[in-house]
Amino acid sequence: MKTIKDIDIAGKNVLLRADYNVPLDESGAITDDYRIKQAIPTLKYLLEQDCRVVIISHLGRPEGERNPKYSMRPVAERLEELVDREVALADDVDTVDSQENQITLLENLRFWPEETGNDSDFAKKLAGLGEVFVQDGFGVVHRAHASTDAVTRHMDQNVAGLLLAREIEVITNAMENPERPLVAIFGGAKISDKIGVIERFIDKADKILIGGAMANTFFAYSGNNVGKSLYESKQSEVIDKLLHKVLEKEDTDCKACKDLSSHGDLLAAQHTIELPSDVAVANSVDDTQRRVIVETDKVADDEYILDIGTDTIKNYQNILSQAGTVIWNGPLGYTELDEFANGSNHIAATLKEHKDSIETIIGGGDTAGFIVHWDPDKGDSFTHISTGGGAALDLMAGEKLPGVEALSS
Ligand code: 3PG
Repeated sequence: MKTIKDIDIAGKNVLLRADYNVPLDESGAITDDYRIKQAIPTLKYLLEQDCRVVIISHLGRPEGERNPKYSMRPVAERLEELVDREVALADDVDTVDSQENQITLLENLRFWPEETGNDSDFAKKLAGLGEVFVQDGFGVVHRAHASTDAVTRHMDQNVAGLLLAREIEVITNAMENPERPLVAIFGGAKISDKIGVIERFIDKADKILIGGAMANTFFAYSGNNVGKSLYESKQSEVIDKLLHKVLEKEDTDCKACKDLSSHGDLLAAQHTIELPSDVAVANSVDDTQRRVIVETDKVADDEYILDIGTDTIKNYQNILSQAGTVIWNGPLGYTELDEFANGSNHIAATLKEHKDSIETIIGGGDTAGFIVHWDPDKGDSFTHISTGGGAALDLMAGEKLPGVEALSS
């Protein structure tokens, strides 16, 4: 994959696809600018090369309608502060004036339904905004949209930006050539969103640590009461399949697969997937609640499981402290409340403490937001914090990313 450093880009008009899809609060202010900041090196490099840059990005899901709530204006303002230059905001493709302005940001691509429709005519209009297309929006390359896929067919040159190149290199390397032991941590709400990536880690990882509401789905699978906790029903077949895959990996004859009938036995027979042995529960989900630790088979009907427990934290810390590579996706508890961010805080502290011996990659979305907020060094305590949510998961799962494929086709 060629990057902006592999071609003669000096003085060119560049069309730069970024992923500035950042969270906003009620007043429209950006609450986390990590994605914008991580894309700055590419923009700075292009400016040093005297390029004129038209940046395109989406923000939220305005579903093809011009909705001021999703305007790129706050992003343009933040960009101006970060690069210390004027950033013109263009309302429409026809109003971009790259002679007048060195940096232009086009309004939200998703104001046009043609964007998510991967429309060729719209892509052609976008392509008219530059001589070279630079894809740097790692977070969106798992989408085949006009600005990630069709646009490349109307450009003479398509290359990767520095952020995209780094994301692909670091994540691919961790999957293909990890320092062992390779430990994956999975949390967050849903197992169903992460099946593909969990399957790949069953092949690749030495240990898989489970937390968050995803663990509740495993507890329910093995017949434990999860009280009022969030969990996914009807996942028995999925978990059965995952566990058989683990058992096949651990024992090629898979004698255990045939003999085992109960869910609890299947879980106990394998050694790759670790589940919490205790959890923090509460009677309601609010900041009046204190952590009460119970064993996972002692959750009461009126309780919510909101975090991993003390013994589990110790066990996970012990496993992680011996790891060579750690890939973490999904918070281990209800991190919106400090009391139940305890498990994730401890795991983050362990990874930070061992940062010289562990290559830690933190994948996307909620986990990245949590870690950047937690870390006094804003994420620098870890090898890599991905700007991708779905894109990082798809890459880890070994799937092809349309926005990356399009660059070289
Ligand atoms: C993301 O936040 O994961 C990317 O920006 C893609 O956004 P989308 O899920 O709305 O396509």
